[in-house]
Amino acid sequence: MSLVPAGKLVVEAAAGGRAVAAFNIITLEHAEAVVAGAQQAALPVILQLSENAVKFRGGQLLPIARAAAACAEAATVPIGLHLDHVKSTDLLRQAVDAGFSSVMFDAAQLPYAENLEATRSAVDWAHANGLWVEAELGEVGGKDGAAPLDPHAPGARTDPDEARRFVADSGVDALAVAIGSSHAMTSRTASLDHVLLARLAKSVDVPLVLHGSSGLPDTELAAAVAGGIRKVNIGTALNLAMTEAIRTHLTPADPRPYLAAARTAMAATAAAMITALN
Ligand code: G3H
Ligand code: ZN
Repeated sequence: MSLVPAGKLVVEAAAGGRAVAAFNIITLEHAEAVVAGAQQAALPVILQLSENAVKFRGGQLLPIARAAAACAEAATVPIGLHLDHVKSTDLLRQAVDAGFSSVMFDAAQLPYAENLEATRSAVDWAHANGLWVEAELGEVGGKDGAAPLDPHAPGARTDPDEARRFVADSGVDALAVAIGSSHAMTSRTASLDHVLLARLAKSVDVPLVLHGSSGLPDTELAAAVAGGIRKVNIGTALNLAMTEAIRTHLTPADPRPYLAAARTAMAATAAAMITALN
């Protein structure tokens, strides 16, 4: 049985100066592929379900959460389970019963004071219920189909002094930071503000999390880890691999050949990106 708390994997990675990869899953094939990729790389990994993925599943958290937990339990490497980009307090309150020990509460779209208030109240409830909590300050753009943020837009970069205050006042266990990545990029062409990352790593005493990591080349991923990132969130890279494999192997009726090809392609992507971080 290899299901372990995701927060523990992040804390262990931080203690070793490493990062743990956290992959967003949508289907059972995603979960199977990420576990296979982690086993190929012989390294721990986090399976994470976003609020959007739950919406895609008709608002039902349990079926996909239980499938992911079963994949984790059968794995030969440690696997964490994490609920990602939670905005709904109703979903937050389902986390424990659905088998999660960690969540990301996302109020980053709000002004600082409102983000802090919403996050602190989520953290109070989550800690009282045994959950480890990640939150976001500054906003990583490209969420929900939105265009990437202009680097000079307010909040497009996390301020190190605000970050220190936000962590102290909210009680979060990990902090997602805006340092130049953007969600849902289909090319690996982004670059990070490494000077800002170094300042954040000095200011903030909880593990730092990178979102929108599909848009970064391997060199930038490795530099992010060297600079202090301890959890690396990856989603779109899996979906690109899945879609390309289905397009290539699409059959008129039986879904198994193209789903098997998609799973193999996603496993290879996961293994390659886990390895790039290490
Ligand atoms: O929380 C999820 C990640 O930030 C995934 O972003 O799909 O751009 O890799 P990505
Ligand atoms: Zn994200």
